[in-house]
Amino acid sequence: MKCQRKKFFLQRKNAYFNCAYMSPSMKKVENAGIAGIKSKRNPAKFAVDDFFNETTALRNNFSKLINNEEPERTVIIPSVSYGIANAVNNLKFTNGKIVLAGEQFPSNVYPWVKLQEKGLRVEFVEAPNSKQRGEDWNASLLESIDSETRAVAIGHVHWSDGTRFLLEEIRNKLDQVGGLLIVDGTQSVGALPFDVQQIRPDALIVAGYKWLMGPYSIGMAYYGSAFDGGQPIEENWINRMQSEDFANLVKYQDDYRPKAIRYEVGEHSNFILVPMLNTAIKQLLKWGPENIQEYLDRLLKSSVSEIVEMGYQIEDSNWRANHLFGIRVPEKISREKLNHSLKKHRISVSNRGDAIRVAPHVYNDEIDVRKLLKALKEPIFA
Ligand SMILES: Cc1ncc(COP(=O)(O)O)c(C=O)c1O
Repeated sequence: MKCQRKKFFLQRKNAYFNCAYMSPSMKKVENAGIAGIKSKRNPAKFAVDDFFNETTALRNNFSKLINNEEPERTVIIPSVSYGIANAVNNLKFTNGKIVLAGEQFPSNVYPWVKLQEKGLRVEFVEAPNSKQRGEDWNASLLESIDSETRAVAIGHVHWSDGTRFLLEEIRNKLDQVGGLLIVDGTQSVGALPFDVQQIRPDALIVAGYKWLMGPYSIGMAYYGSAFDGGQPIEENWINRMQSEDFANLVKYQDDYRPKAIRYEVGEHSNFILVPMLNTAIKQLLKWGPENIQEYLDRLLKSSVSEIVEMGYQIEDSNWRANHLFGIRVPEKISREKLNHSLKKHRISVSNRGDAIRVAPHVYNDEIDVRKLLKALKEPIFA
């Protein structure tokens, strides 16, 4: 794959390495949103099918992205917290422990912590302070899964530094104790291959505005059979059987649409956000997450070595993804001077915990990378 910068509106003077914060909109995603806004100029044009067709297409395309053969197991959600709430509210156990990685994103922490009021225990497996940090962290996660474990709720990569978690191994260990695997794929799905049939999560929750490259306030979730027949957090008419029969909506239906559709957010046929996210996912399918990883590996491989030679620490490439990695700053380099230098060179990255989070994508090129190197080098000699 070559650089895809032309598909975006990015300005040359800025080097945007912050897709983990928010993706820049592709031109065609923005156009899809504008078309959605304009469509309401004449509401008479909205037909019944318009409430269903684009959402069906979005579920189909998201399903292709995660290799899911049952699109009705995927639903539109407004946020990760919403998607996790549907899972947490439908757990069938009241004792035992939930395993989380240390310092993971709050939307995948607070709902679990709240469960402690009902008698469940939450165990955080913190990152070790060792040389083989990624490897050791995965080992302690696997160790923490025992007969008490009811669920592991975790990302595919850690949101602050990209440490990769071995979800297949976690799944296999959970199978031995009958535990659920709940994945927050927000910082990976779209850029890193995710295969539902291989990883077999019980739920996969993904915000849309980062690596799915869609707008804010829409995301996608997948719920496996463990959540069949559960209670959704809201009762929306469109999730019930025969909701396409607008004339007869007050012939109230007891049954929900099949599989996971009951968990879909009300007014899911959002005529602005749904076409935007669908357009973005169609482009991701054309690129392919494996090719995105390969492009970023080629773009950054030699620079990563240079950054490490400067004295910064970056996780071994076997234990991180190429689209998101943390740069740990050694004591000899002043964090203040580094932040100043990044600002001066117009590099957009994020400070997350003790790492500087770098999150490149296919719009980044050699010019951006050279600027990043320059900005990282300057405070060493300052
Ligand atoms: C791992 C992860 N999950 C979820 C979110 C967003 O959560 P929500 O959609 O609940 O605001 C973020 C935002 O940075 C994130 O990094």
